[in-house]
Amino acid sequence: SQIGLAALVLGYLLGSIPFGIILTRLSGGPDLRTIGSGNIGATNVLRTGNKKLAALTLLGDMLKGTAAVVLAGWLLGGKAAALAAGLGAFLGHLFPVWLRFKGGKGVATFLGILIGLNWSIALIFAAVWLSIAYLTKYSSLSALIASLLTVLPLWFWMRDAQAAGLMAILALLLWFMHRENIARLLAGREGKIGQKG
Ligand code: G3P
Repeated sequence: SQIGLAALVLGYLLGSIPFGIILTRLSGGPDLRTIGSGNIGATNVLRTGNKKLAALTLLGDMLKGTAAVVLAGWLLGGKAAALAAGLGAFLGHLFPVWLRFKGGKGVATFLGILIGLNWSIALIFAAVWLSIAYLTKYSSLSALIASLLTVLPLWFWMRDAQAAGLMAILALLLWFMHRENIARLLAGREGKIGQKG
């Protein structure tokens, strides 16, 4: 439908704002794509040594997902528009036209979209992420597990098949974007949180 398409485009435009790139550039830092994992997300901003900037990147990449879902719900109306905007925001973050379609891995935006759809499940995601990160110090592993575990309570507890369906698709995309991280984890070569290089 036209409303679905409008929501998708609105979401994409918000999601494609690369906060990590913008904030590090404004603060005179390096191009994220040339350091660490080369990723544009908060985990890699932390490798520049700037914790405040990493926190701001996390916040920006998260809230753009929340904003897409909430704004589409208000402006266009209805759950379908909110879901389409969430999908758009995620695709915008992963494949931003402004960065020749080479964007991020989607963790912060996944959480932001979840906040917009169901904040109690978002709390579960955050709790799982923090627990795994505390135990293992691997940002990627925390996101891989948290994204998968999020889909289950949406389906079995909230009985929200639509949101569960969307988040399952986003989790699959998130796993695909982490394929190099997964290879490094399996080889025991993944960098730990805050570790430079
Ligand atoms: O936010 C993405 C995170 O899961 C992994 O980031 O930079 O270690 O590849 P990075």
